[in-house]
Amino acid sequence: MNTLEHDDYLAMRAGATVLEADSFGEKVLLLTDGTVLKLFRRKRLFSSAAWYPYAQRFADNAAALDRLGIPVPQIIVVVRIPSLARDAVHYHPLVGRTLREICREGIEKDQERELRTAFTRFVIHLHDCGVYFRSLHLGNVVYMPDQQLGLIDIADVRIRASGLSKRQRARNLRRLLGIVGECDWVEVSAIVDGKDDSPIG
Ligand SMILES: Nc1ncnc2c1ncn2[C@@H]1O[C@H](COP(=O)(O)OP(=O)(O)O)[C@@H](O)[C@H]1O
Ligand SMILES: [Mg+2]
Repeated sequence: MNTLEHDDYLAMRAGATVLEADSFGEKVLLLTDGTVLKLFRRKRLFSSAAWYPYAQRFADNAAALDRLGIPVPQIIVVVRIPSLARDAVHYHPLVGRTLREICREGIEKDQERELRTAFTRFVIHLHDCGVYFRSLHLGNVVYMPDQQLGLIDIADVRIRASGLSKRQRARNLRRLLGIVGECDWVEVSAIVDGKDDSPIG
């Protein structure tokens, strides 16, 4: 992993827009050239993140998902920023908006129905490809101008050699099913049981 010196970091982030931040500081920056810098706090010594940093997982997952034909951000570089005690992944964002943003801005019922159907199909496709995305929710799925769905925030994706089992599919939906306003975005029986009597046909 390359090291980014503090001055170079400051030059890089000059004029950036903060897309996400938490009590520990900035998390996602939109740089003036349209690329994104996502920062990860260095974790304590005894966590798995010490030997396999999240920024590197993000980049490795991007490569693996891309090989599966799943749209993801295009990685430019993974860097360590010692002055901030952060690692970062620098990437070209997916063009489009997250499903959460689209909902928040308001959409017509018909379009929402279509997007929900597309989202359920997308989740089935992910599971068939062996993709277990722990952070599966509408805030991490981007609807692109070519009407495809893609994934962002992919540090905690796990990819299995074969499709997920029923049990894994069900477990993967749990977090989403706990989110008010998003739980009804998936056709659970279609995803878990492969039932084709659902509206998605
Ligand atoms: N590749 C991307 N394409 C489009 N938007 C992005 C991308 N990466 C981040 N964003 C924007 O930044 C926001 C937060 O990004 P995310 O990686 O999900 O951070 P967090 O860890 O805060 O969930 C998203 O809601 C989205 O608006
Ligand atoms: Mg996110």
